[in-house]
Amino acid sequence: MRRLLVHSVLTLLVSVHLVRSGDCPTYCKCDTTGTSGIHAKCSAFDDTQQFGLEIAYLDLSNIPKSSGLKLTDRIFSNVGLKRISSITLANSALKEIHVNAFHGLHNLNQLNLSRNHLGLLEPDMFANNTHLEKLSLSQNSLQNMQVKNSPYSEYFLNIPSLQDLDLSGCSLSHLLPTMFKKLTTVTYVNLASNNISDIPKETFAPLLDLGDLDLSDNKVSQLSSDMFENNSEINSLTMRNNPLSSLRSVQIESLQILDLSLCKFTTIDMDTFVGFPNMRDLNLSANAITSINSNAFKKMTKLQNLDLSNNKLIGPLSDDIFVKNVQLETLKLANNPQMKRFPETGFKEEFSEIYFLDASRCGLTHLEEDNLKRLDHLRRLYLSGNEIQYIKPGVLSPKIIFLDLSGNKIAHLDQVSFPSGSSLRTLYLSGNPIKKISPANFVNTARLKSLHLNSCELKQLWDTTETALRPLKFLSYLNIANNKIKSLSPKDLNYIEHVQTLVLSGNPLTCNDDMKKLVTLLTEREVASSDATQMKQFEEMKITGAVDLVSMKYELGWEKFMNYICQEKQRLIDITKPDYSGDKVVDPKSISDESEDKIILEPPSDHTEMVFDIEEIAFISTGIPEHALNYFPEDIHKDPVTHTKINYTWPIIIVILSAFSIILALLIFVALFLRWSRQKNSYRNRNARRLSICRTALYQQLYEDPNTPTTPVMMTKDPEHASEQRIYTSPNDDTNKTTTDTAQPISKVSYLSSPFHHSNIVPESV
Ligand SMILES: *[C@@H]1O[C@H](CO)[C@@H](O)[C@H](O)[C@H]1NC(C)=O
Ligand SMILES: *[C@@H]1O[C@H](CO)[C@@H](O)[C@H](O)[C@H]1NC(C)=O
Ligand SMILES: *[C@@H]1O[C@H](CO)[C@@H](O)[C@H](O)[C@H]1NC(C)=O
Ligand SMILES: *[C@@H]1O[C@H](CO)[C@@H](O)[C@H](O)[C@H]1NC(C)=O
Ligand SMILES: *[C@@H]1O[C@H](CO)[C@@H](O)[C@H](O)[C@H]1NC(C)=O
Repeated sequence: MRRLLVHSVLTLLVSVHLVRSGDCPTYCKCDTTGTSGIHAKCSAFDDTQQFGLEIAYLDLSNIPKSSGLKLTDRIFSNVGLKRISSITLANSALKEIHVNAFHGLHNLNQLNLSRNHLGLLEPDMFANNTHLEKLSLSQNSLQNMQVKNSPYSEYFLNIPSLQDLDLSGCSLSHLLPTMFKKLTTVTYVNLASNNISDIPKETFAPLLDLGDLDLSDNKVSQLSSDMFENNSEINSLTMRNNPLSSLRSVQIESLQILDLSLCKFTTIDMDTFVGFPNMRDLNLSANAITSINSNAFKKMTKLQNLDLSNNKLIGPLSDDIFVKNVQLETLKLANNPQMKRFPETGFKEEFSEIYFLDASRCGLTHLEEDNLKRLDHLRRLYLSGNEIQYIKPGVLSPKIIFLDLSGNKIAHLDQVSFPSGSSLRTLYLSGNPIKKISPANFVNTARLKSLHLNSCELKQLWDTTETALRPLKFLSYLNIANNKIKSLSPKDLNYIEHVQTLVLSGNPLTCNDDMKKLVTLLTEREVASSDATQMKQFEEMKITGAVDLVSMKYELGWEKFMNYICQEKQRLIDITKPDYSGDKVVDPKSISDESEDKIILEPPSDHTEMVFDIEEIAFISTGIPEHALNYFPEDIHKDPVTHTKINYTWPIIIVILSAFSIILALLIFVALFLRWSRQKNSYRNRNARRLSICRTALYQQLYEDPNTPTTPVMMTKDPEHASEQRIYTSPNDDTNKTTTDTAQPISKVSYLSSPFHHSNIVPESV
């Protein structure tokens, strides 16, 4: 009996396999594993092929020019792809398409024809593809379709259901006012990179549902004031990289997102944005703006995100410039080197939403007491690449969790006043001329988790002449690479007991007993020696969802590190991967001023983002309370490793237990099954026979009539697959009905005609 069962399973698998591979034509690979339909990728395509399967996705990309791909009359219908829902035909040197090529494809929903050599398209060629919603014609030279007096001048394409249209990179330097006349359902149009200089004001008028328009990388120097008056749904407009310098009298009531980066604005006037009362995200980055009228943003009371970075703003900005923008959340002012100062008494108004302020490279020399007043909810503050020497008390809000002060001129850390009870978790001080630090500098930042002191001028880790405080018990990352530290000893770890990554590379460390002891201790505590190892850890956390930090074994790198110090080999050791220049292990003597400068000018912002994201991801994805993951409760003074171990052993035990019980259940089931079948064999009563018919499909398959067709196997086998099929099903030639009308019968029909229907099953006892 058992052998029979095994045999039947094998036969079933083999036959299914044959059916599947048999129906995928030569030159094609069919992937049946997905749940959302069969995916076929072909390296050639012509009308001799036959697709016997219900293929939902067809990929004909990158077919070489030599194979001369041609889309002839009804080619897709003819090869059996009537039910196709998505075709990608990108980069295949396609020159022309027969007007009826896509005929009969009533389920076609997405069509990607990007990067071909198409020049002219018959405007009505998709008129009967009534479910086509996404069309990309990106990077085809379609300029001849937008010429006056051409046969195409009445309308561009006629697609009654289209929603997304990608016409980027199509050399469309002119648009005809009639272009979108027969595309009235479109909600997204991408016209980026087309060399468009002027747009007739009627062009977009037929697009009553237009929500999102991308005109980036064109030559548009002005927008006519009423060109969007009938697009009452438009939400997002991207004008990135156009020679646009004014929006005078342009009115787009519904607009929420406007990208004007890399345009040519030099001043922002009182009336520049009066026509945009619903603006939420405004990007003015990389213009040449020198001044902003203090009333410029007053109409935009819903503004949340404002990017003014990479301009030439001369500071200080007027202190009432944001008085009406009480919903402001992020403000980017980075790289306005002439800014120099914040308003003396801060920006007016209560900013209860602002949590992100980037004032990197703004030529700031210091921060006065009231400079950031009222920004009480600030959490991330970027001040890198300025010339800050000191930060007065009261400037920094205790809510700040991330502070980047790298590349400034801070020489004495006691000149930077952290508020007491500070929530600071990540602090960048890299590239400052700091000569010494003391645990006392961090008494107010007791929750600090990540501290970056690389490329400073430290001669020793702690200047411990001061009181023996233990303020950094949450610190898990410390980077003191590229300083001037000659010796370290286990005592230095007293202040950073729970450190998990300690980057020491690029220091002139001597090989002595203290150093050896320290490294032994670090190895014992499984402390990583570089960002590379830490990164690895992070990546695994991302993949595994931060379930088990402790069981992940990674190279700590201390052995190599000690070899390098002690054998004094003049070679580069790759103990740190080049995450960013600050951490490269180089012979300390060879560090030139240039490389230091580089570090200062390019703070490792990617890395900082990563640290933040990982924290958030870990917190969000596990649901483990932040403090359990990142901090070690104050009353536990044990090694953090043991602490986290306790945390993660339970899930493992649970997983093992459940796996065990599943196996147990299977064993019991098999035993019962065997017993039951033995019984049945001896009694052979009618009841048992009926039961056998109604049991599992696998079991029935064994007694299937060999003459019934096997094709519908997959439809009934895989319920998910069957339900997906429904979506793309509509009766042949009837285009008026909606898909939902016609959806239901398919799985029933196939079940009735399938070998699994009761009437098709030959009783087992025969
Ligand atoms: C179309 O295909 C190209 C190349 O495969 C791809 O880069 C692009 O994202 C696709 N476009 C859409 C809208 O799917
Ligand atoms: C669309 O289909 C109808 C009926 O099947 C046909 O009469 C018509 O010519 C087709 N339209 C186009 C543009 O091919
Ligand atoms: C872009 O348009 C301008 C005139 O509008 C024309 O002189 C120029 O050749 C066009 N460039 C390209 C790459 O088509
Ligand atoms: C908007 O619609 C009105 C009424 O249909 C029409 O008169 C006007 O010309 C349209 N605006 C544009 C820019 O086409
Ligand atoms: C603003 O635009 C620039 C350049 O296009 C881009 O790099 C930046 O990310 C944008 N800012 C925001 C906040 O999206």
